[in-house]
Amino acid sequence: MIEALRGLGYSTATALADIIDNSLSANARNVSLIFSWAGGRSHVAVLDDGKGMDALTLDLAMRLGERSPLDQREAGDLGRFGLGLKTASFSQCRRLTVASVNRGEINCLRWDLDVLAASDDGWHLLEGPADGSEGLIAPLADAGKGTLVLWECLDRIVTPGFKEQDFLDLIDMVERHLAMVFHRYLSEPRPKLRLTINGRSVSPWDPFMASHPATYSSPVVPLGDVQVQCHVLPHKDRLTPDEVESGGGPHGWTAQQGFYVYRNERLLVAGSWLGLGHGRSWTKEEAHRLARIRLDIPNSADAAWKIDIRKSSAKPPVGLRPALTRLAEDARSRARKVFAHRGQPVRVGGAKPVVQAWRAEHFKGGVRYRIDDSHPAVREVLDQAGHLAPQIKAMIRVIEETVPVQRMWLDTAEGKETPRTGFAGEAPAEVRSVLLPMYRNFILRKAMSPELARERLLSTEPFHNYPELVRSLPDVPDAEG
Ligand SMILES: Nc1ncnc2c1ncn2[C@@H]1O[C@H](COP(=O)(O)OP(=O)(O)O)[C@@H](O)[C@H]1O
Ligand SMILES: [Mg+2]
Repeated sequence: MIEALRGLGYSTATALADIIDNSLSANARNVSLIFSWAGGRSHVAVLDDGKGMDALTLDLAMRLGERSPLDQREAGDLGRFGLGLKTASFSQCRRLTVASVNRGEINCLRWDLDVLAASDDGWHLLEGPADGSEGLIAPLADAGKGTLVLWECLDRIVTPGFKEQDFLDLIDMVERHLAMVFHRYLSEPRPKLRLTINGRSVSPWDPFMASHPATYSSPVVPLGDVQVQCHVLPHKDRLTPDEVESGGGPHGWTAQQGFYVYRNERLLVAGSWLGLGHGRSWTKEEAHRLARIRLDIPNSADAAWKIDIRKSSAKPPVGLRPALTRLAEDARSRARKVFAHRGQPVRVGGAKPVVQAWRAEHFKGGVRYRIDDSHPAVREVLDQAGHLAPQIKAMIRVIEETVPVQRMWLDTAEGKETPRTGFAGEAPAEVRSVLLPMYRNFILRKAMSPELARERLLSTEPFHNYPELVRSLPDVPDAEG
């Protein structure tokens, strides 16, 4: 049976999160993970300073399903099935030793799958650490408090060809996962948990970038005993390269979109649309990658939400689906807008609408992009075109019909940089050289006053982004040559 349970599908990181859940349920404030590389004799240990277990509790803790999943649990309890300690551990190792301090006394029990496999007269729960492993539980004796979970014979981690570098990479992966799963426990200013890996503190990863001024956060919406808060993260142009990198989280921007389901502030699901959608379930798309929705459920809702043993999936009850769909829809459409538009400077109230060079034309068959002939750069040419008018119109039409939409979409979605537009990164002289003929035309042909001409340019795309350049245009344009 245990050999079968090993295949539940834990990763090292999710298995460790399950062990840490037990520490938190036992009111631990400090949890230290130790990863020790020694080839096939490597080990992993989790030491906490929680309330520990007496001999009987430890004995029950080592047994499978000693507590019924149907029991009511204390509000802060992160457990449910009475399995995690065993199933999580055996998914990674063949030997599980648990030592715990109670009233100054250390109790220690051990499962060894090789011993179990070799015995035909029952289940032998062994006492004390394995021969030669006494030193590995010494940190608990030194601490004088709490519980130590020790994984040895890491046959599911140290597989053939697995090298020390792979072990180091695994540690990084575990760190990123725990930084995410427990971020609300780790968050400053008053962390409820201090977590270290080989002595180094794990800092929280906040999926919502809540402290970033450009993040949108909706009010918290209560739905019965569940609470929902939608977030739309900033466009990448408003983030530093470091923020873009870290904001992607363990699995990258696209994978990390959707609902974040928390149970007692512990993250169960890190980005999923939870099977919601209209007709067909939504999939994760680039356009919605800035939408992240926080969803809090209490542990009394476990059955309704179909929490699985690994605590990595949850399904909304039918009654909540319409409301969640509506909230998600709003977040998705906001996220789409932020994703599609560059980080435009914020417009002050009462400013004139900007004359755009392109407009999106929506029709029954979808959308197409048209050059707006009311844009002055286009208008002037058309007005003066004379016999060239048919050719110029044909040229515009060709440009419109060949906008490389797919190409731009891919470059936007996959590229590190948003494709450049609006003279981004160009020298002011370059902008000015395009600006001047238009300005000259306004004054000489349209007989506008210099002030009026500048005002028009201030609300014309893309020059509205260069107000200083526009204001510095000389009153007599031809003096510039
Ligand atoms: N670190 C720990 N400190 C104190 N008690 C623990 C610890 N780990 C496990 N236990 C005890 O072992 C029991 C079984 O744990 P587990 O198999 O993870 O199931 P569950 O968490 O669903 O109860 C827990 O209910 C708890 O009583
Ligand atoms: Mg547990």
